[in-house]
Amino acid sequence: MTQYVAAIDQGTTSTRCMIFDHSGRVVSVDQKEHEQIFPKAGWVEHDPEEVWSNTRQVAAGALAKADLNASDIAAVGITNQRETAVVWDKTTGKPVYNAIVWQDTRTDRICQELEALGGGQERYREKTGLPLATYFSGPKVRWILDNVDGARAKAEAGDLLFGNMDTWVLWNMTGGVDGGVHVTDPTNASRTLLMDLDTLTWDESIASDMKIPLSMLPEIRSSSEVYGQVRERGALAGLPIAGILGDQQAATFGQACLSPGEAKNTYGTGNFVLLNTGTEKVLSNNGLLTTVCYKIGDNATVYALEGSIAVTGSLVQWLRDNLGMIGTAAEIEEHARSVEDNGGAYFVPAFSGLFAPYWRSDARGAIVGLTRYVNKGHLARAVLEATAFQSREVIDAMNADSGVELTSLKVDGGMVVNELLMQFQADILGVPVIRPVVAETTALGAAYAAGLAVGFWAGEDDIRENWAQDKQWDPSMDEDQRAREYKNWKKAVTRTLDWVD
Ligand code: G3P
Repeated sequence: MTQYVAAIDQGTTSTRCMIFDHSGRVVSVDQKEHEQIFPKAGWVEHDPEEVWSNTRQVAAGALAKADLNASDIAAVGITNQRETAVVWDKTTGKPVYNAIVWQDTRTDRICQELEALGGGQERYREKTGLPLATYFSGPKVRWILDNVDGARAKAEAGDLLFGNMDTWVLWNMTGGVDGGVHVTDPTNASRTLLMDLDTLTWDESIASDMKIPLSMLPEIRSSSEVYGQVRERGALAGLPIAGILGDQQAATFGQACLSPGEAKNTYGTGNFVLLNTGTEKVLSNNGLLTTVCYKIGDNATVYALEGSIAVTGSLVQWLRDNLGMIGTAAEIEEHARSVEDNGGAYFVPAFSGLFAPYWRSDARGAIVGLTRYVNKGHLARAVLEATAFQSREVIDAMNADSGVELTSLKVDGGMVVNELLMQFQADILGVPVIRPVVAETTALGAAYAAGLAVGFWAGEDDIRENWAQDKQWDPSMDEDQRAREYKNWKKAVTRTLDWVD
């Protein structure tokens, strides 16, 4: 019997391949970063061909590191940065433009035009669960068709395909121009602003508003089924690709948040809190998104409420890459520990405007509360605290929407190794924060989706059994201080608004 499942995790800053055993332990990992392209203020792009080349390399790397080959692997799952839009020519396999990344704000004007059709920012909320915002894929596709020479004519002739990174990777893995499978899953499709959340089908009237031909859109299948076999001659050749989940939904699945009321917070480039609301679709009154959490084969669709925060881990990268203030991301904790508190400084990283719960594309980042006293350590603390404050804001919104107070928070992702941040998160929320043994829950979730489809795991009970706690942080800040800090943060947020006309 094959002993492992592979997952491709095509993230915002890097692509990874991870191999898991039946107990959900990581057996091997290989990772490669890709270039972040910033052509103008507010624009963020990736080169899809670089991403695809990295995908092939890390798949080969992960197998080689553990001395495995394809015959040891039962199935492959794909998880991905969501919303990032690729449009390519199906006759050549070449993208017509770089991928427009989820953080990119260039579609602001397109969103305003769509709002003006009536209903404002909430125009598509009821159908799609989303506000009209630059974050989502539909307006990005529209921008490419409007701005790339000849693209619209080709799209109308049926020669162009759209996909998020899951679809781009799947199409290439399954043969590309030579019969590639053009498919996505409902978790990714629910981030386009084009999918009806009840029927899990593309909504023709929204596609028509956005002037996007339906022929470009991938077929929506479940998150866990065999979509096709790996046909390119790489390390995974011949294997079934059997799971697709957007990365945040994958993390929710990997964290075993499989019952209504269970929630996780992933600390990656951004932070994303997802609350499983079961088969009930809960529309938010407090700035959260309603999204598909997962759909396993023919089982009923499970929905989630999501609080999306654009900039958390990427703020630490910004300190490293744009300011040179730290040499490695890990150094931030050292600097933050050199001081007692933030020295009065608050850093609101509204680099892509503000996502949940504000949805303000006119916001831009600000550091406030500065005095001559503030040093590098205080700023390092303000950077880490920004992640925790933003998480508190979306969890407050979640409590308000669901009417139930969260009693603990499961966490995962790269930043959860940062003990100071985890303690501050517990302090500012006033509830325990819990880290699992396998904090790589994103790739694990995609592996579970693929493994369930081929019978490697029998059912959701296997996933629950595999989950184990590593560490818990309990709140230790007194109530007054918590309230004071949070009030200061809220005030700092107001300073970022109305910056862009
Ligand atoms: O919605 C964007 C999200 O999917 C990106 O996640 O982990 O690549 O920052 P990550």
